[in-house]
Amino acid sequence: MTHILRTVEEVRKFHSPGCLGLVPTMGALHTGHRELIERARAENDSVIVSIFVNPLQFSDLGDCADYRDYPRDLAADLEALQDLDVDAVFAPEPSEMYPNAVPEVWVRAGEMGSRLEGASRPGHFDGVTTVVAKLFQLIQPDRAYFGEKDAQQLAIIRRMVADLNIPVEITGVPIIRGTDGLAESSRNQHLSAQQRQQALILPRTLSALAQGEISDVDHARAAISAAEGVELDHLEVVDPATLLPVPDVHRLDQLDSGALVVAAIRVGNTRLIDNITIGQL
Ligand code: PAF
Repeated sequence: MTHILRTVEEVRKFHSPGCLGLVPTMGALHTGHRELIERARAENDSVIVSIFVNPLQFSDLGDCADYRDYPRDLAADLEALQDLDVDAVFAPEPSEMYPNAVPEVWVRAGEMGSRLEGASRPGHFDGVTTVVAKLFQLIQPDRAYFGEKDAQQLAIIRRMVADLNIPVEITGVPIIRGTDGLAESSRNQHLSAQQRQQALILPRTLSALAQGEISDVDHARAAISAAEGVELDHLEVVDPATLLPVPDVHRLDQLDSGALVVAAIRVGNTRLIDNITIGQL
């Protein structure tokens, strides 16, 4: 039976036997989330899924269309969880998580949070680290599961638990893709059929880079920029732990060690991110 916890008091009182795995989400659950939950289920005695659309990680602290329009359907999410044997769902209201509306004290993501996604979404990762730190405090999991699609988020959270000595083991779970190759994301539901087709330039270009069909990074950027209906935000070759750009990389066949290619595009009003590993990490 899945317990539905709506308040801080309820989640603090919830006791689960043995090793506890947490899967933090913002709802709109898709097959990517299922993968995280199944992994948590396989590795822990108990599993909690949190569902909370965190205003702090949206622009203007949630005073924006992206936050207002973010899909919220708790009943559908609970339905999606039915066969996954989740012990509890923590689904608080914003007023429960942030009784003072905006916290005075935050966990800052620092330089790691200001590059790549952070450059286009200032303050986003400070909102992520603050809410994830709160979830860790409230739920006290032994392990927490995050998708590798959000590579920057994963790297920052790993760094947060190391820097703040938070005793939670962080597990990254590989990207789940649709049969067409597009990485699973709650944002995909905003794409029309035509936009989804246009967005495929992103996974196709990343895959071509990983397969060595394209080695020149500028060539990859140009291929995406030339695609109809698609705007390239960034495509960078980075160190997966620090997210610092690998210096002077123009051709991937000149890399000395493994690296991550991270990219973001905009298709219509929808921003999509993806990444791929090059070589052996
Ligand atoms: O990846 C997400 O869905 C969110 O950023 C997270 C980790 C649940 C924090 O709000």
